Amino acid sequence: MNKEICVATNNKGKLKEYREILAPMGYVIYSPADLNIDCDPTEDGASYRENAFIKAKAFAKLVKFPVLADDSGLEIHALGAFPGIHSSRFAEECGGYPNAYEEIQKRLGDNTDRSAHFNCTICYLENISAKPLYFEGQCPGTILKQRHGDHGFGYDPIFHCEEADLDFGIASEEEKNRFSHRAKAIAKLRLFLAIR
Ligand code: IMP
Repeated sequence: MNKEICVATNNKGKLKEYREILAPMGYVIYSPADLNIDCDPTEDGASYRENAFIKAKAFAKLVKFPVLADDSGLEIHALGAFPGIHSSRFAEECGGYPNAYEEIQKRLGDNTDRSAHFNCTICYLENISAKPLYFEGQCPGTILKQRHGDHGFGYDPIFHCEEADLDFGIASEEEKNRFSHRAKAIAKLRLFLAIR
């Protein structure tokens, strides 16, 4: 079985998590940089699935391995699932994550509902003409009143994971990878890869 996969992301945090979870199972994970590919497709889809497909397709045109693309985001319930598919763009527009954390605190104000969840949607393309397959995972939690720790990436420092009863900003890689939205989506992908 072909155990080489290109993970279509330039996000180092995501890539690290894919390697940590899939490498021990014998998968060789290539990043775009490993393959000398410079590709940054415009994510103008209206959903995680559409954006994941846009990324997977753009990379599948360029590589000979199966490709997986991950579109993910943080959904804060009291803010109407914001920032959702715009999570990365929102941080950019705020001028970086620390500012985005503050902006979220401002928008939440003293709202007692601080519930949120991370979503991860993987699009797997065996090759450019294959049918896209989707695997999804969610991680429920709450938004902390202030940042705690600097582990992980993105919004991890303000997220409390309900199932682990742990702040992702201080979680070890192993702990986050046991409970995260990405780990759950990858677990479904692994099942598919094992039985195909
Ligand atoms: P994408 O590259 O458009 O999928 O952007 C995903 C964005 O969602 C990231 O850049 C982060 O802002 C946020 N995000 C997704 N997964 C995580 C996570 O595991 N921890 C923290 N932030 C995440």
